[in-house]
Amino acid sequence: MSSTLAERAQQVLRANDRGGYTIPTAGLYPFQWNWDASVCALGWMTFDEPRAWREIETLFSGQWTAADYGGGSAGLLAHITFHQNADSYFPGPDEWGTQALAVRTSSISQPPLHATMVRWMLESAKDQASAQAAARRLLPQLLAHHRWWYRTRDPEGSGLVRVLHPWETGMDNSPAWDHPLAQVPATTRAYQRRDLDHVDASMRPPKAFYDRVVYLMDANRQAGFDPVLMARNGRFQVNDIGVICILQRASRDLAALALQLGDAAGAAEMQAQVQRTHQAVGALWSARWQQPVSRCLLSGQLLDEPTSAGLLAAYAGFAVDISTAVQDSLAQTRHGVASTRPASAAFDAPRYWRGPVWQHINLLVARGLQEQGHSELAERIRADSLALFENAGFHEYFHPNTGAGLGGKDFSWTAATYLHWMTAPAP
Ligand code: DGY
Repeated sequence: MSSTLAERAQQVLRANDRGGYTIPTAGLYPFQWNWDASVCALGWMTFDEPRAWREIETLFSGQWTAADYGGGSAGLLAHITFHQNADSYFPGPDEWGTQALAVRTSSISQPPLHATMVRWMLESAKDQASAQAAARRLLPQLLAHHRWWYRTRDPEGSGLVRVLHPWETGMDNSPAWDHPLAQVPATTRAYQRRDLDHVDASMRPPKAFYDRVVYLMDANRQAGFDPVLMARNGRFQVNDIGVICILQRASRDLAALALQLGDAAGAAEMQAQVQRTHQAVGALWSARWQQPVSRCLLSGQLLDEPTSAGLLAAYAGFAVDISTAVQDSLAQTRHGVASTRPASAAFDAPRYWRGPVWQHINLLVARGLQEQGHSELAERIRADSLALFENAGFHEYFHPNTGAGLGGKDFSWTAATYLHWMTAPAP
């Protein structure tokens, strides 16, 4: 552990603190992002426990309720919460059509890491009384969010939730979305991207991607945010293996939390969902890549790409062995788990989710491998990640071969991952 690096990581979080929430990085991402917030809270937990709990509570202050837009989306926790205005990002608060909300948000969600992070925070808390109280306050909101996923995104009860927008996956520009996005109409309206004011175009998604994500954003507003209409008419409907793994893990952790906090009915409800998903996930196995992959619900096709999303299967607790796939991934690059393996024709080393390494994904993949008994592989990923932190600091993502920092600089979740993984004892 390098204390200098830990101090720098803390400085990154403090500099990105906007009072109760942490922006991912100045300029490029000026609001509170959903899955970023959960990772940030883990980092804050290592040096400021009250601030860590506040991160999650501030995020949930934007959760949709029964009073919002007819109530069908009650429990939605949006992918962006706009606590304040900022004009350095597109699409900002005025683009989503959610002006009627008390706290304005986007209309889509993101991978639900929260229940897992809350459990890890509770386990590691020095101030157990405050941590228990915070977890107890959050429990109904966590349950409402998981119910939102199962109710609105798996209305048939198949066990496999769907996403309706690539931004919901958090792995926005993954090559797995090329096939389903090709079926989405391009918007014909004018809009102005702001990401290219901050980051070189070689590291960001192309215009064809933005034309389609804008179309999908506008379609939600036109559907009045009615989840039944959205699920019926959505032009992008994908069983994203990343979200499925993260939700599965979070529901297991939520069941444990509920039991610990005295809500046996909530625990049983989550366990039933976990069981259903456990039985259904085999349909997503890729024999070619030796890992589960995503599926397009509209065409029925497996989206057979070797992305890091499926390497979260051990973290999810699925009874599959992904060690061969992880070994293959590590053998092809030098700095941990590439977001897309070079064996894919779509591999693009510096471009957003088509090649680079994300440190929080390294953490989650390693954690799952450790739990499955693949300690050597887990330790290899940890050692690679530590070297990357030491050599390249806290960028948004990293070149999988050279280790060069890419995307946004002084990035909160990268700093938080360092603090949680490299400076604090594992819970
Ligand atoms: C972006 O704008 O690239 C974000 O990842 C969307 O959440």
